[in-house]
Amino acid sequence: MSDYQAMQAELTGAIAAATDLDALEALRVAALGKAGSVTGLLKTLGSLTPEERQTVGPQIHALREGVTAALAERKAALEGAALEVKLAGERLDMTLPAAAAPRGSVHPVSQVMDELAEIFADMGFAVATGPEIEDDWHNFTALNIPETHPARAMHDTFYFPESSESAAQRMLLRTHTSPVQIRTMMSEGPPIRIIAPGRVYRSDSDATHTPMFHQVEGLVIDRGIHMGHLKWTLETFLKAYFETDDIVLRLRPSYFPFTEPSAEVDVGYKHEKGRRIVGGHGDDAGHSWMELLGSGMVNRRVIANCGLDPDVWQGFAFGVGVDRLAMLKYGMDDLRAFFDGDLRWLAHYGFGALSVPTLSGGISA
Ligand code: DAH
Repeated sequence: MSDYQAMQAELTGAIAAATDLDALEALRVAALGKAGSVTGLLKTLGSLTPEERQTVGPQIHALREGVTAALAERKAALEGAALEVKLAGERLDMTLPAAAAPRGSVHPVSQVMDELAEIFADMGFAVATGPEIEDDWHNFTALNIPETHPARAMHDTFYFPESSESAAQRMLLRTHTSPVQIRTMMSEGPPIRIIAPGRVYRSDSDATHTPMFHQVEGLVIDRGIHMGHLKWTLETFLKAYFETDDIVLRLRPSYFPFTEPSAEVDVGYKHEKGRRIVGGHGDDAGHSWMELLGSGMVNRRVIANCGLDPDVWQGFAFGVGVDRLAMLKYGMDDLRAFFDGDLRWLAHYGFGALSVPTLSGGISA
């Protein structure tokens, strides 16, 4: 056996005995690295005579190839073994029974918002959002509620401390979802069909008011829109939401600065076992009217404030309390419980995480 063969046998023996990738890498560096033993031999080739090189050269090259091949083989084996260990650790027995039922549930407010998105998507409405920390201009001024307007006082606004900015830039917690109308008109441009569900804030608290609550805004802007479109849309929405065709609306003249004309929308209902059941004509025996939402044709000034020509574009808008919609449909009577985070309440009124509302499968899942 030549010296080179002896060296190869020694090196491949060590390589085969390497127990991990680090040890193998150390052997590679010791043999084939810049200062490695095999590299050192290769470097001597240059100083040999042509005759010597003819006999020694092939032997050194064979040594290098042999060591290289042994390294590659051992590396593949070690990596394969490491993968086996990892896979064994990740083994999942698919025949085991499913884990205990998932904890937690979908909050009724989230459920209702999902239901609204589903119902309105079917009518071609997209879901729009806006910031909860709003500026004065979007929350009030652009909606035709100038600084001296009495409607401002009615909103019990949470203002941020005054800063050096102008009054229009003063920040506040939005008091309604209506500023999303402004943002959508300005950023999207007509035609528009959106609903904007989200949190709103007012400094108010009792059994039917919480400082944070939820509204959904609706906005349609297009050519030739009139109140007939508004009424049909609300009727279609409420029938789908309450899952009954027996919904009678009463549109009552009202006033909102951002709509003209404005209408408050009442629905007929009756009391049954202490619960309000929506449905029927409010003037029928045993029935009454309940105010449900505000609506109207978008005020020309609001359309103009958003840079659109009110002679070309018209639209309707509406706003309704999501929490109230939830209470009416699912029979809760104290709004404050919505935000207490009491697990017993959530277990009772919550919805399964995997039961998504669909029009075809049943809207309340
Ligand atoms: N923004 C109103 C509020 O919070 C609700 C509302 C009424 C919204 C009429 C509308 C509307 O879009 O047309 O009390």
